[in-house]
Amino acid sequence: MQQTNINDALPDSGDNGMLRDNAFKGKTIIVTGGGTGLGKAMGTYFLKLGANLVITSRKLDVLQKTATEMEAETGGKVLAVACDVRNYNEVENVLQQALDTFGTLHALVNNAAGNFISPTERLSANAFSTIIDIVLKGSVNCSLALGKHWIKEKTPGNILNIITTYASTGSGYVVPSACAKGGVLAMTRSLAAEWGHHQIRTNAIAPGPFPTKGAWERLLPGEMAAKFDFKNRVPLKRVGKHQEIANLAAYLISDYSGYINGDVITIDGGEWLQGAGQFNGLEIVTDEMWDGIEQMTRSAKGS
Ligand code: HXC
Ligand code: NAP
Repeated sequence: MQQTNINDALPDSGDNGMLRDNAFKGKTIIVTGGGTGLGKAMGTYFLKLGANLVITSRKLDVLQKTATEMEAETGGKVLAVACDVRNYNEVENVLQQALDTFGTLHALVNNAAGNFISPTERLSANAFSTIIDIVLKGSVNCSLALGKHWIKEKTPGNILNIITTYASTGSGYVVPSACAKGGVLAMTRSLAAEWGHHQIRTNAIAPGPFPTKGAWERLLPGEMAAKFDFKNRVPLKRVGKHQEIANLAAYLISDYSGYINGDVITIDGGEWLQGAGQFNGLEIVTDEMWDGIEQMTRSAKGS
């Protein structure tokens, strides 16, 4: 009999766009860190759905190259503006340029981040602050600038924060990032409550492992990638596909999710629960071993 591979039976939804064509027509979306990795993947999908896109990060050359690629692939319009999200004046400049170019703004995706692995005791105070400044203060700066604008103009707004699963659980060896992302999670829930009546929704995505150059080179450098293969930690035994996070992000900033406010959606193939459940490691037990274990546990009944 021919053997079938379980992966052949997987739906292809991870590779395809989810929302209807033109779902974002007339909308303008800012993606911080939009020149690379997940920001680029999300931005590309927003463009395919008809959005105008603003991408921002520190490296203008990277942004411009990405903008050219995106426009060629999607036919959409991309504004690339250099900005260090740690600097509020630079954030305000992005907002102004976006308004000058597109007139209105519909959504902000706080995706820019900095991270590296290190035992905490080896970090300098400045190394710790650098990550807090990029991730937490950067997300605060962008949310504050956009929030002030939306409230002043009395227009609805939408903030989507890209955090991590360890924003909730914490994690060793990435402590500055865990602290900063935890702060962004608190901001997500706080602003959802405070700005909801202004029709500004605030939500977050907590991704598990999604291969990108930025994350992999900093978190799994050299031989670490083979030694600490993320997919082995995931019950689904694979890493995430970029389109999968792009679909979720598009849904959360679209009107289809209009009643979701203040939530964090985990997209990690079950990774964090695998680490949390006390007996989940028993997947290494073979059928033969289970036969023996069953005999032993059954015979222990009367003792
Ligand atoms: C210890 C380090 C360090 C390292 C830098 N520092 N790298 N300390 N280990 N690997 C220290 C420096 O010595 C300095 O402290 C301070 O940090 C600031 O360093 P700079 O290089 O001056 O900072 P800057 O140029 O602002 O660059 C920021 C950066 C860099 C975070 C250090 O890596 C960066 O630009 N990253 C952006 C992209 C990124 O990180 N992407 C990954 C996101 S992935 P002193 O005391 O010497 O002055 C992610 C995924 C999570 O978040 C989950 C994955 C599964
Ligand atoms: P990435 O490609 O390295 O993205 C990080 C982006 O942030 C870069 O484009 C970088 O551009 C920008 N950036 C860094 N510092 C900045 C600053 N001070 N001001 C403005 N922009 C800055 O990594 P990624 O994997 O796509 O990560 C995207 C997001 O997903 C991050 O929030 C990350 O924490 C989150 N995440 C990723 C994973 C994963 O497995 N990949 C898992 C969980 C969470 P410049 O260098 O040009 O500034």
